[in-house]
Amino acid sequence: MYKLIRPLIFKFDAEKSHKMAIKILKNLPILSSFKADDILATSLWNRKFPNPVGLAAGFDKNAEVIAPMLKMGFGFVEVGTVTPKFQKGNPTPRIFRCVEHNAVINRMGFPSDGIGIFKQNLEKFLEQKPRMTGVVGLNIGMNKEQKEPAKDYRMLVRMLAPMADYLTVNISSPNTAGLRDLQEKSAFTDLMGEIIEERKKSCGNFPPPLLVKLAPDLDEKQQQELAEAALESKIDGLILTNTTLDRPNYLPDDFAKEKGGLSGRPLTEKSTQIISNFYELTNGQIPIIGVGGIFDGKDAYNKIRAGASLVQLYTAMVYEGAYVARKICNELAQLLKNDGFSSVSDAVGVDIKTNTRQNKKKAIA
Ligand SMILES: Cc1cc2nc3c(=O)[nH]c(=O)nc-3n(C[C@H](O)[C@H](O)[C@H](O)COP(=O)(O)O)c2cc1C
Repeated sequence: MYKLIRPLIFKFDAEKSHKMAIKILKNLPILSSFKADDILATSLWNRKFPNPVGLAAGFDKNAEVIAPMLKMGFGFVEVGTVTPKFQKGNPTPRIFRCVEHNAVINRMGFPSDGIGIFKQNLEKFLEQKPRMTGVVGLNIGMNKEQKEPAKDYRMLVRMLAPMADYLTVNISSPNTAGLRDLQEKSAFTDLMGEIIEERKKSCGNFPPPLLVKLAPDLDEKQQQELAEAALESKIDGLILTNTTLDRPNYLPDDFAKEKGGLSGRPLTEKSTQIISNFYELTNGQIPIIGVGGIFDGKDAYNKIRAGASLVQLYTAMVYEGAYVARKICNELAQLLKNDGFSSVSDAVGVDIKTNTRQNKKKAIA
């Protein structure tokens, strides 16, 4: 169905299409319900996920369409990035499609209605009784002009942690100057210290899990240092990865020349590699949400086998529509069964465990 109306949608600028999609999702009831195969139900951080396929941050920046997206078939929805104050973001146009390669470049620069509206929208969702099945993550980021990032992050944690199923600290969007510098080891450790202290103050003994979202453009040394810092800081999870600054040669020049972060198919392998690196570097001790270029069940399965406990997507929705979540769930369930797994968690990191075992065997021989 979506493939039929796609040519019409693609006649509009990408951001206009996105705004229309949000409007439609807010106003049109989603009639068909979806129940994922039982093999996909999974638990993490004491939260129950009906399936491991989530909506990545950036689609629902202001927490407007949580319920419709859960109904569409996503097992969890990450809303944001929200900033403390309203900000417009970069000048438009700032989202670009490359249909040939199922890719998108964006340089949004955190447009956000600010914490006030975000919180109101979230409260509306949380007030519904009974609360809809599915997990809601809150993704937080600093305002552009903030010179002391910890101030913004502390404020957002104070306001949002008590309402979050999990919190994501976004330090990896390429479109806010200086943000990615927070991935440097000592800056990372300092920031996590402040955030964890604030989370304890606002939530006492029942804090939501704290996740950090990282870029795919980290060299080996940076990955190693961050893995150590993540273990030392005792954060609860990693989201791997955000968009990339890479521009593979095969992309057409008029697309590749656009500034911003690249997502979709060209990111698939790179993000899977980063997932397996971190899974190995942390000995599988920190749960990973894998994201980047997931379009079908096989892409999701590869990321799970590389070490992801859950997965997310954004760009696939641009090309395939929101029902892509259902398709991925169905395909993933089949792939797990074909390989004799009885749950998602059984498959997490199996490729890495196997590699490590094989390498050890080789070393012994
Ligand atoms: C238009 C657009 C806006 C995005 N905005 C955010 C954001 O606000 N916060 C964030 O953490 N990631 C954001 N992302 C990154 C996605 O969450 C995801 O990490 C990345 O796109 C890779 O996944 P994909 O290939 O499935 O899109 C955005 C991505 C796109 C395409």
